[in-house]
Amino acid sequence: MSKVKAVFAVGHDMYEVDYAFGYEQGLPWGHCKEDLQNFKAETANSVLIMGANTFTSLPGKLPGRVHCVLSASGQRLVTKNGNTADYIIHGGGLSAAIDVMKATHPDRDVCLIGGKWLLLQAINNTLVDEVVVTHIYGHHAYNAPAFKRDVSFTVPEFCEAVLKYELTDFKIQQIESNERVRKIIVDRHTKKA
Ligand SMILES: NC(=O)c1ccc[n+]([C@@H]2O[C@H](COP(=O)([O-])OP(=O)(O)OC[C@H]3O[C@@H](n4cnc5c(N)ncnc54)[C@H](OP(=O)(O)O)[C@@H]3O)[C@@H](O)[C@H]2O)c1
Repeated sequence: MSKVKAVFAVGHDMYEVDYAFGYEQGLPWGHCKEDLQNFKAETANSVLIMGANTFTSLPGKLPGRVHCVLSASGQRLVTKNGNTADYIIHGGGLSAAIDVMKATHPDRDVCLIGGKWLLLQAINNTLVDEVVVTHIYGHHAYNAPAFKRDVSFTVPEFCEAVLKYELTDFKIQQIESNERVRKIIVDRHTKKA
């Protein structure tokens, strides 16, 4: 049976005041091959539901996936290379958008991928069956600068949301060759029965 998932990544650094999520319409850690591969595997063949800023921050539409964007205005909604969304939902709320996408594409998983408030709304209201979070640890050197971010989760925001779920899977991937990103942890939380 198809599932509804939240799939996203957060960046940690030595300060741990908050978890980095976005920076200047992109990701705080820039290009991270392992994160992108994991995202691709988790969202393969799914319907992606996202906010307007997340859609316009994409380089282009992601192959094999249906793109559904929430936007009250629907204005200037194109990816960086000019692609348009498959669906734009102007109102009715996130829960209704999930139901419409499940009914329209019953054979596909539905993945909520951002931004921050859309994810918090989904997780806090247990609208998703699974929360798949990639934790990216950024810096080797003790005095290295923190990830730059203009969108982030406070630690309580993040923890209180995912604590509503049970942690069922935990995978650590060391990345030796990438100076920007040292370690990736993927954890999977599922709805409590
Ligand atoms: N770390 C990650 O995994 C990850 C994932 C995704 C994105 N990002 C980054 O996060 C940043 C973008 O995220 P964001 O939090 O700023 O924005 P976002 O949620 O993608 O976009 C916000 C906009 O989406 C529309 N919207 C959102 N929820 C809605 C709802 N329930 N109903 C109707 N419209 C809704 C509104 O636009 P209108 O004004 O058009 O109504 C709102 O201003 C970028 O830097 C991106 O690269 C990071």
